[in-house]
Amino acid sequence: MAEQREVRVSRMQWEAEGVLSLRLTRIESEDPMPEWAPGDHIDVYVPDGTTRQYSLCGDPTDRGHWEIAVLREHEGRGGSAYIHDELRVGDRLLVTRPRNTFALEDASHHALVAGGIGITPMMAMAEHLAREDRPFHLTYGGRTSGAMAFRDRLAVLGDRVSFLAEDAQGRPDLEALVRDLPEGGLVYVCGPLGLLQAVQAAAEAVHGPDHDVVRFELFSRDGLEPVVGQALDADDYELVLARSGHTLRLAPEDNILDKALALGVDVDNDCREGICGSCVTAIISGEVDHRDLVMTKKEHAAMKEMMICVSRPTCARLELDL
Ligand code: FES
Repeated sequence: MAEQREVRVSRMQWEAEGVLSLRLTRIESEDPMPEWAPGDHIDVYVPDGTTRQYSLCGDPTDRGHWEIAVLREHEGRGGSAYIHDELRVGDRLLVTRPRNTFALEDASHHALVAGGIGITPMMAMAEHLAREDRPFHLTYGGRTSGAMAFRDRLAVLGDRVSFLAEDAQGRPDLEALVRDLPEGGLVYVCGPLGLLQAVQAAAEAVHGPDHDVVRFELFSRDGLEPVVGQALDADDYELVLARSGHTLRLAPEDNILDKALALGVDVDNDCREGICGSCVTAIISGEVDHRDLVMTKKEHAAMKEMMICVSRPTCARLELDL
């Protein structure tokens, strides 16, 4: 279970049509807020007991406050409606510690691409890179200019940001963006699924299917085809949980996370869809079919870690550090 804390909503402010920013402040007498880095997100508990993930977009050096921004989603599950319609300044919210599955890696250049509310982690990254005087460019697209949050705040970054309102300037030329990426550069993208897929397609068109230049973050697999993967061609395999001393025989498609939890093994987990990174487990020996959307292609090929909620073995014996 992720570590939780209570925070107070100390400011709510409109940033664009349908986008509210929230300033979250530590409760009196509590320690400073935990540190965070650009790309981190927190889970916010809503009244139905479920959580919603929001990227932190404030100033990481401010240990008294965090900032998130919430788009009112008419098709959503109700979390954004609660925040927009019921939550008010002074209310308390239960949240988790910041987590990062979208860290800024070293690169010769960072090409940041944001669509709509996907600007939140990209803005924290852009401001961080600007503070460190590292080369980057942020391409920020939205439906209309009025729907694009934080334009004034981003304007101080000058020509390192391109604003593209779709109704006026059209969509970004993603193939050109990937083609012009300097050697050793990386593309970071956050926004609607269609944008992520378009950036991936552009990278494949320019660099081939084995490219490893795109980094992205998803908070849901909604709209994605279920990942089937290559099944192990056998009735069962041996799973060894080395630290807890369990050896069991499982069918290739059995959920390793569920089996480990049923044995009382303590494993952090949250999304159960291979997108949050919390169930990451070290592989001691064996090979797996990686089905997560957190790790990079290089990390998949290294076979050192796996997300046990979704990935499955491709070998007769898999030994994990659990
Ligand atoms: S629980 Fe989220 S990646 Fe496994």
